[in-house]
Amino acid sequence: LHRRTVLKAMAGTGFLLALSPGFLLTGCDDGVIATEPGTLGLDSEEYDVELDLRATPDSASILPGAPSEVWRYRAKLLKGPGDTLSEIPDSYLGPTIRLRRGQTVKIQIHNELPEDTTVHWHGLHVPSDVDGQPRLPIPPGETMTVGFEVLDRAGLFWYHSHAHGEQGGRVGFQSYAGLAGLLIIEDDEERDLELPSGDNELLLVLQDRTFTGANELVYLDGGMGGMMERMRGFLGDRMLVNGVPPATRKVASRPYRVRVLNGSNARIYKLAWSDGRPVTVIGADGGLLREPEERPYVMLAPAQRLDIWVDLSESEPGRSLELISDHYDAGMMRGGMMDGGMMGGGMMGGGMMGGMGMMSSSALPVGSRFTLTRLEVAESVEASGQLPAQLGLHRQKIPVNTATRVRPFELSMVMMRGFAINGRRFEGTSVADDEKVRLGDTEIWEFRNNTPMPHPIHIHGLQFNVLGRRGGSRDSVRQGLVDSGWHDTVLVMPRETVQLAMKFERFDGLYMYHCHNMEHEDAGMMRYFRIEG
Ligand code: C2O
Ligand code: CU
Ligand code: CU
Repeated sequence: LHRRTVLKAMAGTGFLLALSPGFLLTGCDDGVIATEPGTLGLDSEEYDVELDLRATPDSASILPGAPSEVWRYRAKLLKGPGDTLSEIPDSYLGPTIRLRRGQTVKIQIHNELPEDTTVHWHGLHVPSDVDGQPRLPIPPGETMTVGFEVLDRAGLFWYHSHAHGEQGGRVGFQSYAGLAGLLIIEDDEERDLELPSGDNELLLVLQDRTFTGANELVYLDGGMGGMMERMRGFLGDRMLVNGVPPATRKVASRPYRVRVLNGSNARIYKLAWSDGRPVTVIGADGGLLREPEERPYVMLAPAQRLDIWVDLSESEPGRSLELISDHYDAGMMRGGMMDGGMMGGGMMGGGMMGGMGMMSSSALPVGSRFTLTRLEVAESVEASGQLPAQLGLHRQKIPVNTATRVRPFELSMVMMRGFAINGRRFEGTSVADDEKVRLGDTEIWEFRNNTPMPHPIHIHGLQFNVLGRRGGSRDSVRQGLVDSGWHDTVLVMPRETVQLAMKFERFDGLYMYHCHNMEHEDAGMMRYFRIEG
């Protein structure tokens, strides 16, 4: 086994760089703006909600035995409804922030870490300056205050670090260390549906992690071995759900709403029920679908969310049902020693990537079957709540036609340097001519994956429609790709082309688009684009 970066060693040093070889990375050279006094974004006299959010080193009991060193968000509610903040029990993840559409929000963010950080509101339609982008870092010991109005429809979003240092991205490390949390938006339309809520709404954050025998969190190594792992993205050797090992949850014989975030750095899950019942999907990244959809299983790539309805009202007390990640052909994403990185599913066969699986030691190979959560029916109740036939009544589609501009993006591999988008990698805020769009325009963005790996492509500041897919190897995942509804992250399978419809509304300025495999984005598979007003 090669040397690994252990969080404990890093958190204590004050200055830490578990950084990767320079040839994988690019610096962020321009556009760095110092923290300004005052509020970025919406600046008003009165806000509906005011929060104080700290990013801070801490320790947490994740596994039995010694506590683990983590970096985490701590929050205080200064003003607003009492249910705005809730802690996930026993979790080192950030508190769940519950906001309502139309609220104005002010958040003071304090950086108590030994390095720059930012807080990105993933999926939210917010002004560029409060989007938590790497161009606006919060240096150690400083505070940044952001304000915005909640414009999005009801949905499950999240917040996480988006820092990028001089030697490369820090999203992978900082999120891994614990800087991530859920953000729920509610609205009247959703409330009227009376979906299961409170104890009947299960929120699940899926993350894979590796620990030493002394319970120290282990991240990637900076050396050559780490480089190969960075190409694939971090894979842990055990699952954490909501920051703790998968557990049994006592439930009643009634319907549940299960809302799942893939908060992993690189792992893709194939969610299914252990008894083979279909998965009933009611929502995706940007909120509810128009109507429920049944799938044999559903794929969930890093940063994506799915909203699932499950009805346990036929289950006798004592019965249990497991949410699992099922077997699939992960090709070169596999992490097991035994899998050896040999290609399957028509993906690239050999070349420099061929030995990748061999370099890794994950005890939890991608594409293997494992349990995420066990629901045990502990009490029998009068069944309550029907699954509504119609869900999201709002507009579900951005109108496009043959005159809509198609903007092509090619995802490619640069030998020994990682991945690129249209041949370019992250260069701070520099924006090429073909990365400038006009405020008010509707466009089709076409991502062509010319690599043997899947890439979850994320676009900041908006929700898009997935128009269609062609080509590519996706046989063992095809039926699990939920493309209807609103999304901010789309899984583009190896050699596949995916078209997205999007509209640039309300805010101009700099936004980002990138692969949400965190090691890929940190290594430069990330760009800015500019919305010109
Ligand atoms: Cu969830 Cu640019 O990130
Ligand atoms: Cu984002
Ligand atoms: Cu990628």
